[in-house]
Formats: sequence, structure tokens, C-alpha cells
Amino acid sequence: MASIRFNYYLGAWGDCMELSGKVAVVTGAGRGIGEEIAVQFAKEGAIVVVASLHAQECDDTVKKISAARGRAIPFQCDVSCAKDVKKLFEKTLKEFGKVDILVNNAGIFPFVQFKDMTEEQWDKVIDVNLKSVFLCSREAASSMVKQGRGGKIVSVSSIASIIGYPNLVHYCASKGGINAFTRALALELAPSKIRVNAVLPGGVKTPGVGELDEKVLKGIESGVPLARMGQPVDIANAVLFLASDKADYITGQTLVVDGGSTIKD
Ligand SMILES: NC(=O)c1ccc[n+]([C@@H]2O[C@H](COP(=O)([O-])OP(=O)(O)OC[C@H]3O[C@@H](n4cnc5c(N)ncnc54)[C@H](O)[C@@H]3O)[C@@H](O)[C@H]2O)c1
Repeated sequence: MASIRFNYYLGAWGDCMELSGKVAVVTGAGRGIGEEIAVQFAKEGAIVVVASLHAQECDDTVKKISAARGRAIPFQCDVSCAKDVKKLFEKTLKEFGKVDILVNNAGIFPFVQFKDMTEEQWDKVIDVNLKSVFLCSREAASSMVKQGRGGKIVSVSSIASIIGYPNLVHYCASKGGINAFTRALALELAPSKIRVNAVLPGGVKTPGVGELDEKVLKGIESGVPLARMGQPVDIANAVLFLASDKADYITGQTLVVDGGSTIKD
């Protein structure tokens, strides 16, 4: 009797999960926002392919997920490299036979004054932040179309795509590119029931942003109507929503998650 009840509860719990049985590739999932997306997806029943530049980071995220009884595998790769991206999706299909969700999260944001910006610095940011979105989405969409059951692509853009930031011209351009890419691809993939959306975070506390001293943090927070910096989970929750069936009538959209920073005059 106890075991019947236990199974019943397991079943009910399983039904409640947003991504039960889905296979999700999350890029840049070794730390920061991407790590949190991977953890939240696994909590919701997804099998997660943790793709990131550094093998150790991938392993750490997978360990965290496994410790919480989730399912994940690590995959070390450079998402700006077409060969690596091909291997990432070959591995995903070999292991799990399908891909249902892609989250394009990997990104870099090196500060450099425009007058000093080199062609190499420009290319690097555009390749890691924007070309990677093209490469990963191309592989994912090709599988999703063949599978014939639709799919979800969510990219992590930035509010830097809609407001300007000095010393980040290349970054702003790459993120603006993601927004335009999202709208165009959403139209092209709509007949295949593949939804394509983007989330635009404001400032989020992550290892990439680094330690902020009290004064800088206070300055940032004073510019946010909700009076705090974002946490990775704030962004993960929005990505989870867009990747779930609850967003089934939403495509081509850019969802701002910034505590209200961009609505002030
Ligand atoms: N943190 C913020 O304030 C903020 C704000 C707006 C948008 N974003 C965006 O959110 C995303 C994540 O940012 P974060 O703050 O968590 O960054 P982070 O630096 O803490 O983590 C980035 C992750 O991406 C991985 N990565 C970097 N280059 C890669 C490559 N070439 N191939 C594979 N993986 C690579 C890193 O190894 C790392 O695991 C980025 O796209 C960033 O532009 C961040």
C-alpha cells in the first residue's frame, strides 16, 4: 500500500514538472546564468546537456544536478566553432536520440573603449555571442524539423541590445543581432512549430561580472526600480517559462528581465 501511494505521488510530481522527458542543450552552462538555467531545467525533469568552454565547469554543473537527482551530461566545447557545435549535437542525438530545447546562453562582455577596439576584439565578441547563436540554432533546428514535434529555442540577449553602454559597442551590437535573429528565425520556423524567443537580462550577479564593491553595487541598485541587482534564478525562471508549454503561443519575442531598469526616463 505504501509503495502504491509512493508511486502515485511520484506520478503526480512527475506530471507537475514543466520539462518532463525533454532533452535540453544549454550553452555557457558552466557557471553564472547558464548554470542556473541548467539546474532549474533539470529540476523540472529535463535531461540537460551542459555545454561550456571549460571541462571543469561543465563537470561541476553536472555534479550539482546529479546531487539533486537530476540528469545531465557535460560537453566541453567552444560555441563559436562550427566543428565543436556539430559534435555537441551529434553527442546529444547519440546519447538521447533527440533535442527538444536549445538555450543559447554563452556570452562574453569584455570592456574596451571604441577608439582602442581592435578587429580581433570585435570579431571575438561577435563570434562568441552572435555567430554561436546561428551555429547552435542551425544544428538544433535541423534536428527539431526532422523530429517533427516542434521545439524551443531561447537565447540570452541583454538590455544592452536596446540601450547603449559605453565601452561595450561590440557587445551591444552582438546582442542587438540576437534580437533581430530571433524575430526572423521565429517566422521561418513557425510552420514547424519551433518557437524562438530571447530573454534580455539587466545587471545580474555572476562570476562574469565579478565581485562588486559596496559603493558600485549601491550605485547599480539605485538605478533599478526594484532596488536590487538580478540573480541568475530571475533569468532562469524567464527562460524556463519560454521553454515550457506554458509559452506555446509566444514566438519571436524579446522579454526584458531587469527589475524595471529600462522603463525609467
Ligand atoms: N551577468 C549580467 O549582468 C548579464 C546581463 C545581461 C546579459 N547577460 C548575458 O547572459 C549570459 C551569461 O552571462 P553570465 O554573466 O552568466 O556570464 P559568466 O561569464 O558568468 O558565464 C558565462 C559562461 O559561458 C561560457 N563561455 C564563454 N565563452 C564560451 C564559448 N566560446 N563557448 C562555450 N562556452 C563559453 C563560460 O565558460 C561560462 O561558463 C551571456 O550571454 C551574457 O551576455 C549577462
